[in-house]
Amino acid sequence: MNFELTEEHLAVQQAAREFAQTELLPGVIERDEHQKFPAEQIRKMGELGFMGMMVDPQYNGGGMDTISYVLAMEEISKVDASASVCMSVNNSLVCWGIEKFGTEEQKEKYLKPLASGEKIGAFCLSEPEAGSDATSQKTTAEDKGDHYLLNGTKNWITNGNSASIYLVIAQTDREKGHRGINCLIVEKGMDGFVVGKKEDKLGIRGSDTHSLMFTDVKVPKENRIGENGFGFKFAMSTLNGGRIGIASQALGIASGAYELALAYSKERKAFGKPISQHQAIQFKLADMATEIDAARLLCLQAASLKDQKKDFGKASAMAKLFASRVAMEVTVEAVQVHGGYGYVKEYHVERLMRDAKITQIYEGTSEIQKIVISRELLK
Ligand code: CAA
Repeated sequence: MNFELTEEHLAVQQAAREFAQTELLPGVIERDEHQKFPAEQIRKMGELGFMGMMVDPQYNGGGMDTISYVLAMEEISKVDASASVCMSVNNSLVCWGIEKFGTEEQKEKYLKPLASGEKIGAFCLSEPEAGSDATSQKTTAEDKGDHYLLNGTKNWITNGNSASIYLVIAQTDREKGHRGINCLIVEKGMDGFVVGKKEDKLGIRGSDTHSLMFTDVKVPKENRIGENGFGFKFAMSTLNGGRIGIASQALGIASGAYELALAYSKERKAFGKPISQHQAIQFKLADMATEIDAARLLCLQAASLKDQKKDFGKASAMAKLFASRVAMEVTVEAVQVHGGYGYVKEYHVERLMRDAKITQIYEGTSEIQKIVISRELLK
């Protein structure tokens, strides 16, 4: 087994690191405080190829593998987890879903501008009463012959206002249960589609999370992804890959906090020497570094399985379950290493600690990951 990264992987990692330090770090505290979406930065990420990394170049993508994606996600998330969740949803939920299951016309019309970053995508599964229990969709897509009539409300939608292309999961035939669900591509500006309330969140405050309302929205039949009734399987298959993105985000949040704690521990003196010379701090750093390496290996394993076109659902759930736990543990310890300074905004670690929590909730809570993993184990 070779753990070496290739020249291309190292180049992607370096490009993402430089971008994060030069373009995302300045202003990240203000964007968090004022809940400002990093629109300009996301536009530049599109130009650099970070918004459609794994998409075939014929559809404006970067043609890269999932390992490159993990490495880039880690670097961006070390600095700005609000930018990285936008990147993750666009890459692994929206672009991947359309490229894998969409028609040629859908790829031309929707995938191309999404992969280039010209437009941003959103994935709309969650509802006020359907979070973990994703089959209980109340949003309806009534079959009207040449179009669907979409009605309902979606909640907690990442990129809710900044997106222009939305993948909306809705129930067409309730009697068929999950086999009666469809996924429709909805465009901002369609009559009857309204972006609702913006959520005021604990973390990832630069990411715009909204509710969405659909009232008699006419969606052409050609905007359905896959066969009639494929929508739930579409959502589940897409989330398998999405969870690699969120696992890498959690990894980045943890490694960003660790790097700050390591640097601070060498500068800060107490009892006549740098605190890094005290065993209490050394043990914390050792635990943090070990957990982060283990999380990274799980992320890369899931990415590698996906690149080899092998089953990766269990591996991505394990990566997300573990990396999000590590993100919480490491960020709490990073605040502790910083002492009082860790509790103020200027030192970044308090933000990373707030940002970490959502990685245990979205794209399937930790409890859902355990369901996914244990079902695979018991097959
Ligand atoms: N991959 C592929 N197919 C899957 C799958 C997976 N991981 N999990 C289930 N399926 C398929 C099953 O094979 C089954 O199909 P068949 O009947 O044809 O065999 C079908 O889907 C239904 O599966 P289940 O009977 O297992 O369904 P369930 O009701 O027991 O629920 C669940 C399964 C795993 C709990 C699922 O509901 C789930 O993952 N819930 C969490 C939803 C979630 O992650 N939401 C996140 C919102 S998106 C988001 O957060 C994005 C963002 O903005 C950041």
